[in-house]
Amino acid sequence: MSNALLEVDHLTKRFGGVTAVDECSFTVEPGTITALIGPNGSGKTTAFNMITGYLKADSGEIRFHGETIARPRPATLYRRGLSRTFQQARIFPELTVEENMVVAGGFGPRELFGRRVTSADSERALTMLTQFRLDQLAQLPAGDLSYGQRKLLEFAAVLMSSPTLVLLDEPTAGVNPVMIDAMEQHIRERHAAGVTFLIVEHDMQLVMRLCDPVIVLDRGAPIAFGPPELIQNDPLVLEAYLGS
Ligand SMILES: Nc1ncnc2c1ncn2[C@@H]1O[C@H](COP(=O)(O)OP(=O)(O)O)[C@@H](O)[C@H]1O
Ligand SMILES: [Mg+2]
Repeated sequence: MSNALLEVDHLTKRFGGVTAVDECSFTVEPGTITALIGPNGSGKTTAFNMITGYLKADSGEIRFHGETIARPRPATLYRRGLSRTFQQARIFPELTVEENMVVAGGFGPRELFGRRVTSADSERALTMLTQFRLDQLAQLPAGDLSYGQRKLLEFAAVLMSSPTLVLLDEPTAGVNPVMIDAMEQHIRERHAAGVTFLIVEHDMQLVMRLCDPVIVLDRGAPIAFGPPELIQNDPLVLEAYLGS
């Protein structure tokens, strides 16, 4: 039996004539920061969407903690410790930063607006916001945050569910260099605290210093897998990125 935290087994998804993910198999071992890279359109986001239950696979299997996820649903997976961020950060712009955190902690808007949020919940949200240096912004509508701050908020919010596995889809895309450093720091801290990561990332320097192993997708399936030093010099990988 595998010790993998996540096993993706011959996963396939077609959109009309396009096979976005094609008999794709890979594993994520516990305690790793695993990178999923590949040229634009290679199927990274589609794979994420199936793993996290936002999209139904045409075929294939996903196992989390060794258990087959028969009908992946985002909310169920979230409660079981698998959560994600989106390429375009998804937050509630009308809610305050703090309310976004409390909602992510498992409260529906009804509880929130019924003011049944206890001081303990709000304290936990504030502790997390302080760690992300967003505490000064806690009472602002989340829609007022900068693009980079929204990405940080989304990451912080995902952590309110105490996940074991977090999938990040391009956490630093479009984010300024200071914010990239902050994001890297937060990933490292959470990793040190025991969270496993699967990260789609285009910034190769960041991938090289942060992630091990690296999985390279091309046309919906892995073409390389291994430590970043090896991936960097793999002729198949260079060809996938440069040629086509
Ligand atoms: N909802 C969709 N409908 C039709 N085609 C899609 C859809 N989502 C993705 N695709 C196609 O699937 C392929 C993989 O896309 P995607 O998973 O977004 O790649 P990546 O995240 O690696 O850039 C692309 O050819 C893309 O155009
Ligand atoms: Mg994508």
